[in-house]
Amino acid sequence: MDRIRIVGGNELAGSIPISGAKNAALPLMIASLLTDDTLTLENVPHLADVEQLIRILGNHGVDYSVNGRREKQQEGYSRTINFSARNIVDTTAPYELVSKMRASFWVIGPLLARMGEAKVSLPGGCAIGTRPVDLFLEGLQALDAELDVDNGYVVAKTKNGRLHGNRHVFPKVSVGATHVLMMAASLAKGETVLENAAREPEIVNLAECLIAMGAKIHGAGTATITIEGVEALSGARVRVIPDRIETGTYAMAVAMTGGDVVLEGARPDLLQSVLDVIAETGAEITATNAGIRVKRNGSGIAPVDVTTAPFPAFPTDLQAQFMGLMTMAKGKSRITETIFENRFMHVQELARLGAHITLSGQTAIVDGVAKLKGAPVMATDLRASVSLVIAGLAAEGETTVNRVYHLDRGFERLEEKLSGCGAVIERISG
Ligand code: EPZ
Repeated sequence: MDRIRIVGGNELAGSIPISGAKNAALPLMIASLLTDDTLTLENVPHLADVEQLIRILGNHGVDYSVNGRREKQQEGYSRTINFSARNIVDTTAPYELVSKMRASFWVIGPLLARMGEAKVSLPGGCAIGTRPVDLFLEGLQALDAELDVDNGYVVAKTKNGRLHGNRHVFPKVSVGATHVLMMAASLAKGETVLENAAREPEIVNLAECLIAMGAKIHGAGTATITIEGVEALSGARVRVIPDRIETGTYAMAVAMTGGDVVLEGARPDLLQSVLDVIAETGAEITATNAGIRVKRNGSGIAPVDVTTAPFPAFPTDLQAQFMGLMTMAKGKSRITETIFENRFMHVQELARLGAHITLSGQTAIVDGVAKLKGAPVMATDLRASVSLVIAGLAAEGETTVNRVYHLDRGFERLEEKLSGCGAVIERISG
């Protein structure tokens, strides 16, 4: 199993190209199921989760070609990929595939809307919490779907070939349920109004995609989204937005190690609350024509309290990385997680590097230390792993991060991007 070896202590200087967002690319890829035409997606990151979803969509009959070459997996940064779901050959998403990646449950929306039926395995447990699917099921029922849970599968059908628009209030904000309802309602008969919808930039990106495909959607990016269903959707060409979580991660890395880095192609409007918090810690953040410049000189890191919440607040997907940064702050900070009930697995691994963190329910109290010391650590999930990388870059001596496959799910060419800025970091295979 691959490992990442880091020798910490260097400041970061230079530029890092920001990739297309994983969490935007996945729903856009799934939207290809809504049309028999070709959906071309630009700026798709080359990540394990994307490759896995390509396999899952292939099971339903979605064909794909990368920059015109079928099957050839181009080694490189974000790519343009054509997806074509001319014939849906199977409306079942089996357990073996869905259990590997939770977002694949989202195929239920487009399959049901286009084919009038879908049988999708329940995703099952997940390292960061239970993550149920009740919000999806209630939403689809509001659109008149008939649902049954049988043998671990959700079996969904339309009553007479088509879903029906309705007003639906989500009892809780959910990114995935908003994606699914927006896709499903695009092909439903009549108007759907979604209230208490997620406002994440990835929702806006999906709405842009659906609109380019011919959907009639208003209000994406606000809590109320209105969708006037159409008979059919067509192909389109859409660009995946830059990854705000990757952007925030590297910005925090620079805030921790010190240095001066331009995050090329990053969009400040996608993570303003995060940039404000990083600035409060003492780093200088500037929006430039190229992206975002992050700079920190020798001054200490100021402690800042954060609470995760749906967009536009501080994202849960940057909580672990921020905790990494706070481990070397000059004082105490409180980090409260409100989205997932079990997203503190990085705490004990950061402690192996010398961090002082105590947990009190859903709040971590981080007592900053003057220095961290390198150690072997274990990656437990995607964002937790990268928090260990950030801490390793700032720690004295050598850190080895084991179970790197978590990182490969969501960070494109991490070692290359960081070593290009002066970090000592390498992948050790086997
Ligand atoms: C998306 O997951 C992201 N994944 C997650 O990123 C991210 O952490 C999360 O949104 C929150 O921002 C993708 O976009 C692929 P939710 P999602 O439904 O849609 C509860 C990463 O590291 N809930 O908004 O699954 C749920 O348990 C990943 O890239 C229900 O109770 O998240 C959670 O507490 C991890 N019932 C809350 O809602 C449901 O039916 C928000 O989850 C659905 C969700």
